[in-house]
Amino acid sequence: MAGTPPSRRPRVVVTRRLPDPVERRARELFEVSCNASDEPFSVVQLHAALDSADGLIATVTDRLDRSALTSAPRRAVIVANFGVGFNHIDVAAAADAGIVVTNTPGVLTDDTADLAIGLMLMVARRAGEGERLLRSGTWTGWRPTQLLGTRVTGATLGIVGMGRIGQAVARRARSGFGMRVVYYQPNPVDLGDLDAGECASLTELLECSDVVSLHCPATPATRHLIDADALAHMGDGAILINTSRGDVVDEAALAAALAAGRIRGAGLDVYEDEPQVHPALCALENVVLLPHLGSATDAGRTAMGMCAIDNLVAFFAGEEPPNRIV
Ligand code: DGY
Repeated sequence: MAGTPPSRRPRVVVTRRLPDPVERRARELFEVSCNASDEPFSVVQLHAALDSADGLIATVTDRLDRSALTSAPRRAVIVANFGVGFNHIDVAAAADAGIVVTNTPGVLTDDTADLAIGLMLMVARRAGEGERLLRSGTWTGWRPTQLLGTRVTGATLGIVGMGRIGQAVARRARSGFGMRVVYYQPNPVDLGDLDAGECASLTELLECSDVVSLHCPATPATRHLIDADALAHMGDGAILINTSRGDVVDEAALAAALAAGRIRGAGLDVYEDEPQVHPALCALENVVLLPHLGSATDAGRTAMGMCAIDNLVAFFAGEEPPNRIV
């Protein structure tokens, strides 16, 4: 449904605290209700927001499933997602309900790619283990065989999902670390001048990569893409990095593979059941666990908020929102 300009200022519920400049701009433009407590909305609060507002700025912590979107005629006509990933929103149900959904692609590409590279280095160079050792007060000083890691320079990086973020990671790996880059991407993609070799299958990529970095969206087709079988195809010195979505990895299978030394290490920023993390992962030394920080820079989160607002502004002006999904 196209945005019909309301005669009054549109009422917008913002489901989480956003950076100050974003909240300020939202208040200038809309009649805004912010979530002062910054606790994730309950189902009841989410339904109330959909019933009381013309639009929502929602985040990954809001589960907008079919029942939320269609179980009653909602007042809300647009959900502007604060984020590029939208697997928490049933977009087919939104379309059925006549609710427009937008996201924030592009503005968080560099930050997420930086974090993926950071995780790769942390795991390869055992930075988490080293920091824990030092903070424990048991570090006895330098020695030649302490915490020997993996050299990433010149190693092969396999990228699963060669969209914007995958490509940004590939460029950093090529130019910064002289890594050979291979990728698996089911749909055709324009790589410009990026020097990367295409793998015909995920298995081929897993078998030839020293580091595997996941950058595919969470869809029914990618759920548990990295399961016990996939992990069995990785080399025993290989490292898995996930900054995409937790569902893409079978966490129990990963924990078992890490515990058994089936692969060398993993770096995770996202989890199957956030904020829960599989307890077996928390007990392992060879995994670095970050709390979904991919886009978490001042600049990135501000740009995401401004992008979400731009989508609302366009919609309420009767124009096509720039980042419309449905
Ligand atoms: C994204 O943009 O998808 C981030 O993971 C936050 O949702």
